[in-house]
Amino acid sequence: MPARHFLTLTDLTAAELAGLITRAAQLKAAHKRGQSQVRYPGRVMAMLFEKSSTRTRASFEAAWTHLGGHSMFLSPRDIQLGRGETVEDSARVLSRMVDVLVVRTFSHERLELLAAHSTVPVINALTDRFHPCQLLADILTWTEQHGDIRNRTAVFVGDGNNVCHSWMEAARLFGFRLRVAAPQGYRPAADLTATYVDCVEILDDPQTAVAGADAVITDVWASMGQEDEAAARQAAFAGFEVDQALMARAAPGAIFMHCLPAHRGEEVSAEVIDGPQSVVWDEAENRLHAQKALLELLLG
Ligand code: CP
Ligand code: NVA
Repeated sequence: MPARHFLTLTDLTAAELAGLITRAAQLKAAHKRGQSQVRYPGRVMAMLFEKSSTRTRASFEAAWTHLGGHSMFLSPRDIQLGRGETVEDSARVLSRMVDVLVVRTFSHERLELLAAHSTVPVINALTDRFHPCQLLADILTWTEQHGDIRNRTAVFVGDGNNVCHSWMEAARLFGFRLRVAAPQGYRPAADLTATYVDCVEILDDPQTAVAGADAVITDVWASMGQEDEAAARQAAFAGFEVDQALMARAAPGAIFMHCLPAHRGEEVSAEVIDGPQSVVWDEAENRLHAQKALLELLLG
């Protein structure tokens, strides 16, 4: 049987995703009780990261340790991939040795190419186009805070980037409405906007977008690989900071979400991210629990 990959949320069905969130909550509770979660002794996870990471790396390594496996972190600085060995050959070789590959890279096509040559499950740990593991943790966090997400309203303010794209896919798969407020030139990819037109509304004005929302989400204005554009982006995103005044337009009890790392004073004010509506630390922790459930689903 070919390996089952998780390159984007649509690689799982809505029913599988709902089950995964339930399972993640169970695994979280069991972990808090101190229950052993060893299920994969002697199994090996390779983590191939071509970009920096704190949360994704630490949560996958910790999750796999709790599950009893061994993980190896492979940086392009140290492996032959960084000296020009192809991703196809790297995938062929690594998948002869390990049970699962967790990959963070630049283009989504590069990840797809790698997965096409892997005989073991490949997990997307972030590409320029999608960040599906983040959404597993975010939906778990929402569920803990607000209960069922179906028919509720989330608003993404800022760059129509990888995290925003995964929120768009989540809207269809988890059955909620998403509004995206982004400046011209920084809107989500046109193909995704067309695909999700029934559940995602794209707006120019954050003030209008946020009105009555159950959650306000943002992300950095310059993602990894866009460092050279930082100054131009700061100018383009003026007026898109999530501050207390913007949060006040959302529904009472609305939560603030951010995948982190954050830049206080740019996409979010310190008052909001460090304030009572912020659930960002739960989001970070939930990476651990949600990814355990993902590993179980893919590995059986
Ligand atoms: N949210 C997230 O993926 O963080 P890292 O880049 O630190 O992994
Ligand atoms: N959009 C950000 C997310 C980091 C987790 C980036 O790609 O850098």
